[in-house]
Amino acid sequence: MPIAYTQWADTYELFEGETAQETWRQGIAADLAKLAGGPGRVLDLGAGTGVGTRVLGKLLPRLEVTSLDRSPEMLNWGKVPKDRQIVGDMADFRAGQDVTGDAFDFVVSGFDALNYLPPEALASCLAGVADVLRPGGHMVFDYSTRKVLSADWAALEYSQDKDGYTLHRRHAWERAYDRSRTVLTLSRSGEVLWRETHIQYVVDPFTLEEIARAHGLHTVAVRNIESDTYSPSHTTHVYVLRRK
Ligand SMILES: C[S@@+](CC[C@H](N)C(=O)[O-])C[C@H]1O[C@@H](n2cnc3c(N)ncnc32)[C@H](O)[C@@H]1O
Repeated sequence: MPIAYTQWADTYELFEGETAQETWRQGIAADLAKLAGGPGRVLDLGAGTGVGTRVLGKLLPRLEVTSLDRSPEMLNWGKVPKDRQIVGDMADFRAGQDVTGDAFDFVVSGFDALNYLPPEALASCLAGVADVLRPGGHMVFDYSTRKVLSADWAALEYSQDKDGYTLHRRHAWERAYDRSRTVLTLSRSGEVLWRETHIQYVVDPFTLEEIARAHGLHTVAVRNIESDTYSPSHTTHVYVLRRK
């Protein structure tokens, strides 16, 4: 089975670019604007084509972003400079993997990238975050809730047409595995170009807080993406964690 986000790299921004940018503006960028007083080093986990780097570059240009993703196709499509990219697994990185080896002031992860990690991999990822963040540094990320994966996407199919391409998505909640499966099919003029399967997971806010705390990351805030309020059943939450 082809790895997710290898074939999709070329048309990812065509279908997701605008929504991803808006998610970054409402989510991570809004919180970083309150936390970042000046220059700072940022590590973006699951950075993909670098949508987050571009949004932060416009709104908070004094931040310098390093992008980590397991898909070189995504990083390269986004022309992420080689000295600012790390090809690797979010669940398996530690300090010293980027060019400078210095600690980061912020770790971010946008547009539900962390939902790709099963709970044990998420725990390993947060251990890595604690390793690369400076003391007092923050992690800010958006995360799809259980409502989206297990209810809204329980059994949902739809297609989008753009620039002569049709992207068909078939979502299913796999109750036995506590995870969501999405099959993406891209076609053009009726001919199937490729298919990718994406598996996503979700842990509830209290579990996420406990995993984070076990790795020395204290939860400062959790909010719904469009506001400062919090409701467990919202679609997307934005988390701010702080390293002790
Ligand atoms: C929904 S996309 C988000 C991309 C980008 N953050 C954005 O805002 O457009 C998820 C990204 O996470 C990456 N990803 C998924 N699992 C990963 C893992 N275990 N390690 C590193 N990257 C991963 C994928 O390759 C993909 O680029």
